Amino acid sequence: MRVTMIGGGYVGLVSGACFASIGADVTIVETDPARIGALRKGMLPIYEAGLDDLVAENLAAGRLRFTDSIQAVAGANIVFLAVGTPASRGDGHADLSYLFDAAEQVAPCLTGPTVLVTKSTVPVGTGRRLGALMAERRPDLCICVAANPEFLREGNAIEDFLHPDRIIIGTSSEAARSALAALYEPLTHTGGPLINTQVETAELIKYAANAFLALKISFINEIADLCEKLDANVDDTVIGLGLDRRIGPRFLQPGPGFGGSCFPKDTQALVRIAQDAGAPARLVETVVAVNDARKAAMAGRVITAFGGSVRGRRITILGLTFKPGTDDVRESPAITIIHRLVEEGAIVSAYDPMGINHARFQLPSRTRLCESAGAALEGADAVVIVTEWTEFRALSIAELRANMRGRLIIDLRNILDAETFRAAGFNYRGIGRPSSVCEAQEEPYMPLRARAAQ
Ligand code: UGA
Repeated sequence: MRVTMIGGGYVGLVSGACFASIGADVTIVETDPARIGALRKGMLPIYEAGLDDLVAENLAAGRLRFTDSIQAVAGANIVFLAVGTPASRGDGHADLSYLFDAAEQVAPCLTGPTVLVTKSTVPVGTGRRLGALMAERRPDLCICVAANPEFLREGNAIEDFLHPDRIIIGTSSEAARSALAALYEPLTHTGGPLINTQVETAELIKYAANAFLALKISFINEIADLCEKLDANVDDTVIGLGLDRRIGPRFLQPGPGFGGSCFPKDTQALVRIAQDAGAPARLVETVVAVNDARKAAMAGRVITAFGGSVRGRRITILGLTFKPGTDDVRESPAITIIHRLVEEGAIVSAYDPMGINHARFQLPSRTRLCESAGAALEGADAVVIVTEWTEFRALSIAELRANMRGRLIIDLRNILDAETFRAAGFNYRGIGRPSSVCEAQEEPYMPLRARAAQ
């Protein structure tokens, strides 16, 4: 099966490499000169665990190649469109200009019957528009259109691709359905369910899935806030809720609000789609508003913990990416929190195992970016854990005592054991955890080097 993937971004690279690994002959077309230059040298423009090895393996096996020439669609059985569909500035609608530009370039280069598939997240009705465009541009060819949304999580994308909960194929064309079923056969053969739908339904499933997961997160965030007011414990509440098989435990971890390149963009886009269709999605509108407010409120928690002012306080932020396992800082709560704390006069230092380089351009210039958690913690009055990286789970009392001058821990991911840190004299504040706050016992601060010399 010959597959051409238009777009060497996150979705195109992961999907292209995974299709090659299950036996397809894949060409990835990337027209951005910097990106294609890097790819040709074996450098990936994104970080995704295991992807560099998967790409290298399939390049070496001759099943995967990169090109900047759109001519690579000639002779392909299936052409995937995996270009960006960012939110339009201002109104939240998905910007389809990259997608239709790509389709316009593909059309004249096709040489035979082809299945044209959207992998990008596209508004309902896009497949139909693409079909009309292809019929107009290439009336001489049979070009069947399908929607095949992806459900990959950054950091788990290869696993998600190779062991999918489901594969959605939306098309009204039998030829497209059987070509895609054959492509995915190595995955469906081992149990991945394949669902056939109309194009519009497949397009909607993607938005509905992301909106539902976003709703689940916002729900538990509200319950966590309620736990704090009522002296209940959200960790136990999650267990009690999640064991109900109708609810399930996943995506019920409270935190500082969801970020990333998908949930914020897709919930906003669904709101617009629903408004345009005359069936407003009130719940999703609320999720968008609740999440924006939550991210903004997180810095308020820090300010409150300091009794109303952080002016001159040294605050360490651990975690800049929107979640662990990625270098992506798009819509990350950490960025919102740092801006507010700096505006309020705090002296902020920050560390992230992967995200520093991307975060650098989005943070106030006064933020001190550090190369280790220890360096970021030195002299801190408080530490705020924003991303649940494994190395932060292993933070020890000794390490915090040795580096910090204050004793305030604000754990926005509930990764530390509250009782252990409180018993050691820390003023530990989690999310939705009972508030038996042990007030900070400020110790006279002595720089690490001076202590070591004692
Ligand atoms: C999300 C979906 O999970 C994927 O299925 C989908 O394919 C992808 O968007 C996409 O549309 O391309 P992703 O954005 O990589 O994947 O990240 P998630 O793991 O879903 O996390 C999103 C945000 O929700 C993060 O900020 C995370 O910290 C937050 N989250 C997640 C919570 O606060 N609590 C949870 O229990 C789970």
